[in-house]
Amino acid sequence: MYNVKLYNKISKVGLDDLDPAKYTCSEDFTDYDAVLVRSAKLHDVEFPKNLRCIARAGAGVNNIPIDRCSEEGIVVFNTPGANANAVKELVICALLLASRKVVQGANWVKGLKGTPDIGPAAEKGKSTYAGPEIAGKKLGIIGLGAIGVKVANAAVGLDMEVWGYDPYLSVDGALKLDRSVKHVTELDEIFANCDYITIHVPLNADTKNTISAEAIEKMKDGVRVINLARGELVDTKAMAKALESGKVAAYVSDFASDEILEQENAITLPHLGASTPESEDNCAKMAVYEITEYLEKGTIRNS
Ligand code: MLT
Repeated sequence: MYNVKLYNKISKVGLDDLDPAKYTCSEDFTDYDAVLVRSAKLHDVEFPKNLRCIARAGAGVNNIPIDRCSEEGIVVFNTPGANANAVKELVICALLLASRKVVQGANWVKGLKGTPDIGPAAEKGKSTYAGPEIAGKKLGIIGLGAIGVKVANAAVGLDMEVWGYDPYLSVDGALKLDRSVKHVTELDEIFANCDYITIHVPLNADTKNTISAEAIEKMKDGVRVINLARGELVDTKAMAKALESGKVAAYVSDFASDEILEQENAITLPHLGASTPESEDNCAKMAVYEITEYLEKGTIRNS
């Protein structure tokens, strides 16, 4: 029997793929062969000697102590692409939220509750909450992995002019990318030219603060920025200043930070990118597959 420790609630559709004759799952195990985790941070966890692998039901692995796992011979899996559609859909939503002031306008209308003749009263917000269309605008995508490529192609479908930057673009990614996407070799080209910028790279020492004060300075006035990848990719103090001055017209982020919450032209979500039942099922199934292949056959399958 293999023990699988659950560090988060994992979709039942995935867990059902574990043969009950061979696997037991629990949040309470102290001795276990495998870990299934979503967002729980494992940096301070002391792993048992038997632990052979950790599977993250998600793309990023910054909640896992990768160096220590390598030293201790623990294999780490993630589920690249399994939640890409869910994230892509929220990015498209974020592009529109950054433009059309839907959240601000809707909140303002709620505040009118009880106003006599509410219809005409609400229409007074029409010009205050007006915003531009995204069609015809330049979208810069930093990172053309599974998510970035899907966002690029969807944005092309919405008549945006799409520019992408990724020094590590895979052959598979290049083949999937719509031919109209302009692949630039310098990040500064994205900063200097794009009306909307969205970032889709893993968080590491090289990518931390990719959107720094210096980077924002290089951007077009009134640029709109989306970050559904990792909070630390953006210097939030610099972003708050840029929102205040109007240099950045809107910032939609999937990560809370105090300085950003105060800004009227920022929208902060509670890390919703991958939170769809479809994506949770896909990630769980892929993570379970990786664990079973490794424990039973020693095969490392991480696409
Ligand atoms: C990811 O890295 O893919 C996301 O953080 C997934 C999640 O929200 O769990």
